[in-house]
Amino acid sequence: MAKHPETLYDFDTPVERRNTTSLKWDKYKDKDIIPLWVADMDFKAPPAVISAMHAHVAHGVFGYTLPPDDLLEAVMCMLERTHAWTVKPEWVVWLPGLVSGLNIACRAVGAPGDAVITTTPAYPPFLSAPTFSQRTLFTVAHVDNGSKYIFDFAGIEQSITARTRMFILCNPQNPTGRVFTRDELSRLAQICIRNNIIICSDEIHCGLVLDHDKGHITLSTLDEDIARQTITLLAPSKTYNLPGLGCSYAVIPDKGLRAHFKTAMNGIVPHVNALGFTAALFAYRDCEDWRLALIDYLRQNRDLVEDFVANTPGLSMHHTEATYLAWIDCRNLDVPNPTAFFEDAGVGLSDGIDFGTQGFVRLNFGCARSLLVKALGRMGDALARYPGLS
Ligand SMILES: Cc1ncc(COP(=O)(O)O)c(C=O)c1O
Repeated sequence: MAKHPETLYDFDTPVERRNTTSLKWDKYKDKDIIPLWVADMDFKAPPAVISAMHAHVAHGVFGYTLPPDDLLEAVMCMLERTHAWTVKPEWVVWLPGLVSGLNIACRAVGAPGDAVITTTPAYPPFLSAPTFSQRTLFTVAHVDNGSKYIFDFAGIEQSITARTRMFILCNPQNPTGRVFTRDELSRLAQICIRNNIIICSDEIHCGLVLDHDKGHITLSTLDEDIARQTITLLAPSKTYNLPGLGCSYAVIPDKGLRAHFKTAMNGIVPHVNALGFTAALFAYRDCEDWRLALIDYLRQNRDLVEDFVANTPGLSMHHTEATYLAWIDCRNLDVPNPTAFFEDAGVGLSDGIDFGTQGFVRLNFGCARSLLVKALGRMGDALARYPGLS
């Protein structure tokens, strides 16, 4: 049974990340800009992970490392327990990063000149991986139904050609924070099955569902036909804040598809690093109470962001069901470049253009609440000073 979160872990005390070669913080080195952009959180990794890594470092030998048997066991237990997915050991292919997995999937399926579909807004590597792999990319924008972003099923069907081989799905979705329902996923999967399209399902955010009444549904659990046509990409890196350790994996039930995937990796994909395996093992096996505490904390941060946006003229957003990312619509601000505007105000956000959608910013609320409050204060003050908005 999970221990009660709030009393156990401290997410409130800011961790100094300046001058630690952090990608997120060094972008604004020597500038008074609060970085709320790239998707890593400012929290320390779970204590069990940190102490396991200390023990590993104390051993002092960092040779080529096999995936620990315990890790495979921990992954299979987690997928069974949390997502009711029974996975066989041979289905798992270890990867040093999930973005590598996206690019390998694009190369493993079909041939140069074939087509790949994804939806926008999209995590930027979804937009670049097909092109890097000499595939033609078709994008279909999510539809805003007034309360959430949904699939444009007709648009997806229309964008399918004789050369379409793959659909890249993100669920839970970065950046909109959607947790797709069983019906939505089934409908999407049926379109892909009918058209013999492989689905690459990036489920890296599956451990970060914030709403009590929602649950992540692994696409491959819908039925066996769908599982046979799906490459699921997973990692502990988002949930347990380990993105610098590079440990991810693909789960591919179909033997033939798995063989193509492994062939595409040949000679260019390095081993997972030894510390990455250690961190993944302890995260999955021993940190469920930390994860639950984190989700409580993130939920409150999310509520703060949503309140702020609801009370700020010119901004709007839909409810973030999962992830620590808020997708904020700035199109009603009469500001030519919202990202630059907020940077000038002292807050560094991700630009919607990188996700294929103009007029939006993505705000990462995976940080100490005091920092988030400060950042929202800066954004609010800058907007209050902006002519025509107050
Ligand atoms: C949807 C999604 N996929 C993949 C990644 C990155 O994975 P990795 O760091 O393992 O390459 C991210 C990081 O933000 C993400 O949001």
